[in-house]
Amino acid sequence: MYRTHTCGELRLANIGENVTLSGWVQRTRKMGGMTFVDLRDRYGITQLVFNNEINASLCDQANKLGREYVLQVKGVVSERSSKNSKVSTGDIEIIVSEMQILNTAQVPPFTIEDNTDGGDDIRMQYRYLDLRRNCVRANLELRHKMAFEVRKYLDEHGFIEVETPVLIKSTPEGARDFVVPSRMNPGQFYALPQSPQTFKQLLMVSGFDRYFQIVKCFRDEDLRADRQPEFTQIDCEMSFVEQEDIINLFEGMSKYLFKTIKGIDLPDFPRMTWHDAMKYYGSDKPDTRFDMKFVELDGILKGHGFSVFDNAKYIGGICAKGAATYTRKQLDALTDFVKKPQIGAKGMVYARIENDGTVKSSVDKFYSQDVLQAMKSAMHAEVGDLILILSGDDVQKTRKQLCELRLEMGNQLGLRDKNKYSCLWVIDFPLFEWSEEDHRFYAMHHPFTSPKLEDVDLLDTDPGAVRANAYDMVINGVEVGGGSIRIHDSELQHKMFKLLGFTPEKAEAQFGFLMNAFKYGAPPHGGLAYGLDRFVSLFAGLDSIRDCIAFPKNNAGRDVMIDAPSVLDDDQLKELNLKININ
Ligand code: AMO
Repeated sequence: MYRTHTCGELRLANIGENVTLSGWVQRTRKMGGMTFVDLRDRYGITQLVFNNEINASLCDQANKLGREYVLQVKGVVSERSSKNSKVSTGDIEIIVSEMQILNTAQVPPFTIEDNTDGGDDIRMQYRYLDLRRNCVRANLELRHKMAFEVRKYLDEHGFIEVETPVLIKSTPEGARDFVVPSRMNPGQFYALPQSPQTFKQLLMVSGFDRYFQIVKCFRDEDLRADRQPEFTQIDCEMSFVEQEDIINLFEGMSKYLFKTIKGIDLPDFPRMTWHDAMKYYGSDKPDTRFDMKFVELDGILKGHGFSVFDNAKYIGGICAKGAATYTRKQLDALTDFVKKPQIGAKGMVYARIENDGTVKSSVDKFYSQDVLQAMKSAMHAEVGDLILILSGDDVQKTRKQLCELRLEMGNQLGLRDKNKYSCLWVIDFPLFEWSEEDHRFYAMHHPFTSPKLEDVDLLDTDPGAVRANAYDMVINGVEVGGGSIRIHDSELQHKMFKLLGFTPEKAEAQFGFLMNAFKYGAPPHGGLAYGLDRFVSLFAGLDSIRDCIAFPKNNAGRDVMIDAPSVLDDDQLKELNLKININ
């Protein structure tokens, strides 16, 4: 038997027991004639004691132990004279009588501590060592617990987990596909699923009624902190439901997870239309932990001779409470922030509300105090507040810039507390998104999303104004999940494909299987998918979803530990009928 107890288990009640422990050497300390070794496993750390006077040769062996050696020790549990309240086993220690080195270890390239000395790259290269660190392992334990509770909740609500294929057909909508060459079908490729969307709809046609799957999805997109090329969805679909049914069931699931895992009782989630989210926050995933809503100032600030505003299509301001103390230097830094190429604003105007209530702005020479006071009241600004204003000739772009500024101010003023959760549903998304570049409509969600019935007539006259039966769950400015009621009528689905620029032949070639299925009695259905990685990251307070994925990719989409992707050798290429042509 390798162990009688784990390294996190023993307490004062075990004093006097003969025990066997196995684990890794966290550290050794020599103090006079005594050597202390911290032995670590997944469950905790236990202090081992070697006494030179009692067993000199064993103590000698202990002095030679390296970090991360794997040991088995036998000994007696004894009460510690100097207790350590920070560790669960801190009241006891093991007086070791026998030790076996199960494995030696090279000196690890970074310390296996919460505050490690290892940088990102080296930790990713030796991810299996990084995963030994408590803080990293805790994220995976949380992930397990969340996935477990999700399964429990969905099972209790009649959902069954069905696996769908990983080798499917490439569809050019949405993100780019990862593709896999088929040896048995020369010149042909599978695609890895961006989501099981069409399969879950087919399962509804098959009468499964309530489906879910915790499933890997693959998207060849540019990576960000909340995006990985392979990520995990909690993918769900239901039959005979309306938007309200889905929202209720999944709001319930989120509340259940917050309650069981974090002990938090959440109030009902407010709902915000996409239109309002864009108007007041410049984002379809507003961070509503703090207010600072946009106020449109065109009516007040145009026509006073300040050409930047006079020529703008949009002028919007935010009011940062209590930030009038910002120095010139801090304001210049904010201006530099909005002018960064990734944000792209041309400049920023600011106004402080002075102690006597007057408004002091960076454009005072163009505006009378009366106009500035009108702005102050429109912004609901008070003494001590700071107003920040951006303008531009593209409404959506300027709103996005103001959104970045709002989030930055939220960060600077400490308003984005990771322990505070603000959840909402964003609803009434437009069905289509117009692309100036390609001069065509794209589906905002995906081509299977149903328009609102009352907007169906607009499909022929004003497609851009059609609202979708689509909804996103947003928590702290993160899109945690999203879904829609689907089109279940093949006529309407054909019309949708046509509006998206598919010829009947192309629609048939790509989605014929779904269109055919819809001819055999498709029930009304809808669903949603959560991003599990994002959900876990929110619960764990992480900055990047990478930290809750056991073996993530880096920003270049590489797994630096296994060194993937990699080149294929000539024989493999030949077998797959592939020629590499890199210019
Ligand atoms: P959508 O594309 O909105 O919808 O994806 C659902 C959720 O998946 C998460 N997500 C990601 N997480 C990490 N890395 C990524 N690259 C990534 N992309 C998406 C997000 C998102 O809300 N089939 C539809 C769902 C449906 O309509 O039922 C779909 O995939 O949290």
